Amino acid sequence: MHALDSFCTWLEATSVSRTLQTVEWIIPAVQTVHILAVASVVTSALMVDLRLLGLGLRDQSVQAVARRYLPFVWWPLPVLLASGATLIVAEPARALENPVFWLKMGLLAAAIVGTLASQRPLRRSARLLAVLSLAAWVGIVFAGRWIAYVQGG
Ligand code: HEM
Repeated sequence: MHALDSFCTWLEATSVSRTLQTVEWIIPAVQTVHILAVASVVTSALMVDLRLLGLGLRDQSVQAVARRYLPFVWWPLPVLLASGATLIVAEPARALENPVFWLKMGLLAAAIVGTLASQRPLRRSARLLAVLSLAAWVGIVFAGRWIAYVQGG
C-alpha cells in the first residue's frame, strides 16, 4: 500500500524516530514498561476469568473479584497504547505493515469487548465469554512476540 509505505518512510525520518533509533537504552526501557503492563493486564484478566469459570477465588463473589481486579486490566491499557505507539514510531513498517500486528489489534478489541460483556448483569453466557476473552488475551501475547518473526513491509 503506497500511502502506508510513504507514511512509514516519513515517520522513520522524523527526529523523534531518529532519537528512538539511536539512543540505545530507550527501546529496552519502553519494552520493559510494555511487558510490566502486560503482566498486570493478563494476570488480572486471568483472575476475573477463573472466578467466572468457578475455578478460583470461590470464597469471593464474581462482583467482588471483578471490582478488585478489573482496574488492573483497564488502567494499564493506556500505558500499553503509549509504549506500543513509541515502539511503532521507532520502527513504523515493522508493525504497521505486518499482518500479525493487525491480528493483535483485532484480538485486543475482542478481548476488551469480551471482558466488558462478561460483566453484564445478565451473565448467562459469562463462562463462554470468560474462555473466549482468556483465549484472546493469550493470543495477544502470542501475536506481540510473533511480530518479530514475521516480515513487515
Ligand atoms: C494498546 C495497543 C498496543 C500497541 C499499539 C502495541 C504495540 C506493540 C509493538 C509495536 C510491539 C513490538 C513488536 C516487535 O517489534 O517485535 C509490541 C510487543 C508486545 N506486545 Fe504490544 N501493543 C499493544 C497492546 C498490547 C497488549 C494489550 C498486550 C498483552 C496483553 C501486548 C503484548 C505484547 C507483547 C507480549 C509484546 C512482545 C514484547 C517483547 O518481545 O519485547 N501488547 N506491542
